[in-house]
This record gives sequence, structure tokens and C-alpha cells, in this order.
Amino acid sequence: MIPTDPTLPESTEVAVVGAGLTGLATAALLARSGFLVTVLEARAVGAVATGNTTAKVSLLQGSVMSELRKHAGDTALEAYVAANRAGQDWIRSELADDPSLEQRDAFTYSTTPTGDSAIDAEAEALAAVGLDVDVLGEGEHAGLPYPVTRALRMRGQWQIHPMRLLAHLAEVIREHGGSIVTDCRVLGLQDGKLRTSRGPLQANQVVVASGSPVIDKAGFFARLRVSRSLAAAYRVPGEVPSGMYLSVDAVGRSLRTSQGLLLVGGPSWTTGREQDPAKMLASLDEWVVDQFPGAARVTWWAAQDYQTVSRVPFVGPTGEGLWVATGFNKWGMTNGAAAALTLAGDLTGSPMPWAEALRSPHLTLRDGAEFIGAQAGVAAAAVTSAVRHIGRHDAPGACTHMGGSLEWNDLERTWDCPLHGSRFAEDGAVLEGPAVEALSRASK
Ligand SMILES: Cc1cc2nc3c(=O)[nH]c(=O)nc-3n(C[C@H](O)[C@H](O)[C@H](O)COP(=O)(O)OP(=O)(O)OC[C@H]3O[C@@H](n4cnc5c(N)ncnc54)[C@H](O)[C@@H]3O)c2cc1C
Ligand code: FES
Repeated sequence: MIPTDPTLPESTEVAVVGAGLTGLATAALLARSGFLVTVLEARAVGAVATGNTTAKVSLLQGSVMSELRKHAGDTALEAYVAANRAGQDWIRSELADDPSLEQRDAFTYSTTPTGDSAIDAEAEALAAVGLDVDVLGEGEHAGLPYPVTRALRMRGQWQIHPMRLLAHLAEVIREHGGSIVTDCRVLGLQDGKLRTSRGPLQANQVVVASGSPVIDKAGFFARLRVSRSLAAAYRVPGEVPSGMYLSVDAVGRSLRTSQGLLLVGGPSWTTGREQDPAKMLASLDEWVVDQFPGAARVTWWAAQDYQTVSRVPFVGPTGEGLWVATGFNKWGMTNGAAAALTLAGDLTGSPMPWAEALRSPHLTLRDGAEFIGAQAGVAAAAVTSAVRHIGRHDAPGACTHMGGSLEWNDLERTWDCPLHGSRFAEDGAVLEGPAVEALSRASK
């Protein structure tokens, strides 16, 4: 249990919205620099993405580098790598004495011709920024019990237990006079005063680290793609592979071990747009048992993350005294720590060397087309979902963010919004996404 503070102060120098890795790392860095910080968390510390991540702290990131290079160019890629390397080093130094920090080789692999092309593009992008990998061909052993057609191996990467990191950061914040207030949902911001479910808070600076930004003066909700993934832990007879793996085939698979269990992630879907998430879990089980005969599922969960069109996370100011960090594209361990270093650098007047290059507008023509495509997807989801709801009596009403028609997720027993990814519990409480108000009526 991570200790928190029972009362909301009346004022603070820096208010940080969200107690995931990004929020707590930013708050810890600022607290160490002498700022009075208050972290406001709607649920519990680590309740959303950070507590449900697979927590690979790796510079080998599937096909991210080649995609980012295609969208944002080599200068942005170099800055992205510098930021991620600094984020990785920072996590290592914070957890230096913690047994949950484990060194592992990281692998990106493919089993299909399309996946092979993605591997080739990734190898090129990694070479362009001087990141060393071994290229493994068909027949070379990647440590998996099934054949792969191509693989990249980066040695000496890391995996952690994310809640251990959050517990450590919470301790740093409180040791330096900061506070962490949970069950405190931020509802809005006006003239430097935050409106929260536990009363007002006056703040000189506000850092929004809530995943999808809940104070959104830049319209992020319309620019972020929301991807939800399944993950599950299995007991597997015999040896489990020791590396950290990610496939770049059409259905991506993520594998790593934790305390003798095999953690497997994938498939993914756009929140609120998958008709049958329960079938996804059955298909994940089937795949795992095929590859690891005798595997038995111990537990499962699902989580979501946000992607920008350019693949470059957004970390910076969006108004006077207002800062945002989002868009980590399922690589928010290194990126969340890097965002914290960036924001702390900005707020202490010592900007990070990579910050500027990651903030220039990366919207190329291709990105413009992709953005329009994504918006068309949102519009189509709005129509399909509204039509499906005609005549239904069990619908809980509209999403409190912008009125999307909610879809029932029978696997997680939640109401999910297909427009921008807000999710609500069966009783209507907000779980995640840009919405801040509960549903007034919800039942299944
Ligand atoms: C399935 C999956 C696997 C992943 N695996 C990896 C991996 O192996 N390696 C890696 O680097 N990354 C991985 N990621 C990505 C990584 O987990 C995330 O990018 C990262 O955890 C995001 O951290 P965060 O602090 O920005 O957000 P979060 O951890 O989501 O924290 C945001 C916090 O804000 C709070 N909040 C929201 N609204 C409000 C409000 N109105 N008021 C107050 N608080 C609010 C939330 O309750 C939440 O606690 C994975 C993601 C997923 C979904
Ligand atoms: S999340 Fe935007 S309308 Fe539901």
C-alpha cells in the first residue's frame, strides 16, 4: 500500500494531475528541486496504465523508431532516442538497489513477410541513430519455442515492477514536503484554480499527466489514437524464455517473464470499437497453449495507451502555467520518465537538450491524411454506434465527454466510448479517458 495524504491543501506551487509514472516522476524531480508539489489522483496510485503495463524499459521498441522516422524525420528520431535513453538511465538509477530491476535482452521479431519488412525498416532506423542490434535470420535462435523468420536483438535492456517504482517515487515526493491526494478527480481549471471532486486548489503551475489530458486546451482528444490491449499471466511447464519479446506481425504479441510466470500481451483494439473482447481473450489463451503446451492462465487484465499521429509524444506547454505529457504509444516507461525530465527541465529553467526538436510541428502531408483518416474513423464509429443503440433499453446514456454512444464491454464489464476512449464502470464511475463526469444512469 503506497502512503498518500488525507487532505487537499488550499494552494501549491505545482499541481500534478495523475499519479502514474509520468505524474509521480515529474513531481519527484520538482520536489527534489525545491518546489512545493501536490499530486492529484482520481483513483489510486498506478490505477490506470502504469499499474497494468508490461514494464519493459527498453530502447528496442517494436516498429516505433521506423514509424517515427517516417512521420517526423531523422532529427526528431535522434531526439526521441536521446530522451528515451535518459528516461531509461533515470529509472535504472532510481531503482538501482531494487531487486525488481532486471536486465534482459530485448527482441523484436516477425513470423510473416509483412512483419519481415517492418523488421528491415526498423533495423535501418536503428542504424541511422547508432543503436546497436544483432540481426537474426530464419533458423537463428531467438529463445522462443516457435519459429521466427527475422528478429532484432538489443542486449542489456531492462524490465521492472512498475508499482515498486511508483512506491519509491511517492516516498521521494513526501520526503521532500510534497503531497499525494488520491480519490481526487480534477474537473477543470480556471484562472490558476483547479476544480476537483475534493474542493478547489490554487496552483501556480499545472502539469497534466492523466493519460488522455483531462485539461485539454489543445484538442488532444481529437488527435490521439486510443489502443487497448489484453495481457495475461500464464504458468508454463518447463523453461520460459528469458528475454523481452515483441512481434511486429499483424496481431502483435508481447512476452516477458515475471516471477516465473510468462506475461503475454496482445491483441489490441480501438477502445469501444471491438464487438467481442471476450473472444479476444479466448484467442489469446488458444495461441499461448499452442506455443507453450500445458500453459495455464493465472490472471488477465487490459489497459490502454495513446498514440499521436507523428508517433512523437507531446510533452510541453499548452497555455500559461499549463503543461501536458501524453502520447507514449505503449512505451511510456522510458517516455514517461523522459517526459518528467523534460518538464522538470522546463520548470527549473534548464531545458533538456532534446526538448526543442521534439516540439516542432511534425505534421507532414502523410500525417495530415492519416489524421483525416482517424477522424473519419471517429465519425464512422459515432454513426455505427448510434444506429446500434436505437431501440436498446439497456444503454446508459451518452458519454459525459462529448456525447458518444457507449458500448458495453462484456469482458471487463464496462461502458466504453468509441470516440475518444473514455471508460466507465458498471455503476457509471469514470475509469479513464478524457471524461471527468460520471454517468448519471448506468446499469446493464
Ligand atoms: C497493455 C500495455 C502494455 C504496455 N507495456 C509497456 C512496456 O512494456 N514498456 C513501456 O515502456 N510502456 C508500456 N506501456 C505504456 C505505458 O504503460 C504507459 O505509456 C504509461 O504507463 C503511461 O503512464 P502515465 O503516467 O502517463 O499514465 P497513467 O499511468 O495512466 O496515469 C495517469 C493517471 O491519471 C489519473 N487521472 C486521469 N484523469 C484524472 C483526473 N481527472 N483527475 C485526477 N487524476 C486523473 C489516472 O487515474 C491515472 O492514475 C504499455 C501500455 C499498455 C496499455
Ligand atoms: S470519450 Fe469523447 S465522447 Fe466519449
